[in-house]
Amino acid sequence: MKKNVTMTSSGPIGIFDSGYGGLTILKAIREQLPEYDYLYLGDNARAPYGTRSFDIIYRFTLEGVRELFDRGCRLVILACNTASAKALRTIQQRDLPTIDPTRRVLGVIRPTVEALSCSATGNVGILGTVGTIASRSYEMEIAKLYPLYKTTTRACPLWVPLVENAETDGDGARFFVDKYINALFNDNPAVDTIVLGCTHYPLLLPLIEKAVDGRARILTQGDIVAASLADYLHRHPEIESRCSKTGEITYLTTENPEKFSNLARVFLDTDINVHHIDISQ
Ligand code: DGL
Repeated sequence: MKKNVTMTSSGPIGIFDSGYGGLTILKAIREQLPEYDYLYLGDNARAPYGTRSFDIIYRFTLEGVRELFDRGCRLVILACNTASAKALRTIQQRDLPTIDPTRRVLGVIRPTVEALSCSATGNVGILGTVGTIASRSYEMEIAKLYPLYKTTTRACPLWVPLVENAETDGDGARFFVDKYINALFNDNPAVDTIVLGCTHYPLLLPLIEKAVDGRARILTQGDIVAASLADYLHRHPEIESRCSKTGEITYLTTENPEKFSNLARVFLDTDINVHHIDISQ
C-alpha cells in the first residue's frame, strides 16, 4: 500500500538493489543505525542487472527509486554497484530536480573508494559485474583520489546468478570463484587489497576468502557504506530529521516473496516478511 506523501512528512530510508545483494548493505546499516526505519526493494524479477545495457539499468533503477519515493522514502541508497555506476549520476543530476529536489539518492562506489586508503602498496583489485567494470567508475574514482594506484579489474559475470539461485557453496560456486580470483592475480600478482564491488558477492565470501588464501585484504561494502551513511546523516540534519525512527524494516521484491524470504533467512539469520510488488511501467 502506497502512502500519501507530503513535502514535510518523514519516511523510511529506502535501500534498492537488483535482488538479494543489497541485504549485505542493509544488514550492516541496520547494525550501525538500528533506530531508523528501512524499506528494502529487490528487483529480483529483473536481476541480474550486471549484464544489461546502460539504458535498461538506468530505467529499472529509476523505476525502483520512484517506487521507494512513492512509499515515503526521502533518502534512497542504491545498494548496488551496477546501478550506482550506471544510473546514479543521471538520477541525481537530471531526475531529482524535477521529481523532488528535497529528496536524495546515494550510491556505494564513492565511499568504497575512500576506504581504499588502507592499501599498503597501491595495488588494488576490483571485482564487479560486467556493467560496473565496463563503466570504469571505480578506476575513475580511484584515479581522482589516489593517482599513483595501480587498479586491476575483473568482471565476474557468473557470481550474481549463483547468488540469485542460492548456489553459494558447492562445487559449481567454488569453480567459478577460483576462476575469477586466479584471473585477477594472474593480471597483477601484487594486488594487496580486493574490493568486492558488487553487493551480492559477500554471500560468496567464505569461498572467496579460500581462493584468495591470505594474498590480499578483502573489502566488503556493508560496514563502509553504513559508516558513510551515518556520517551523511550527521552532516545533513535536514534529511536526517525526515527519516522515521521506529526501528522497522519492510521488504519488497518484484519476484516470489517466499523465494526471497528463504534465501534472505540464510543470510540474515532471521525470518522476514516479504511483500510482492510490480514496478515495471
Ligand atoms: N548487486 C548488484 C551490484 O552491486 C547487482 C548485481 C546484478 O544484478 O548484476 O552490482
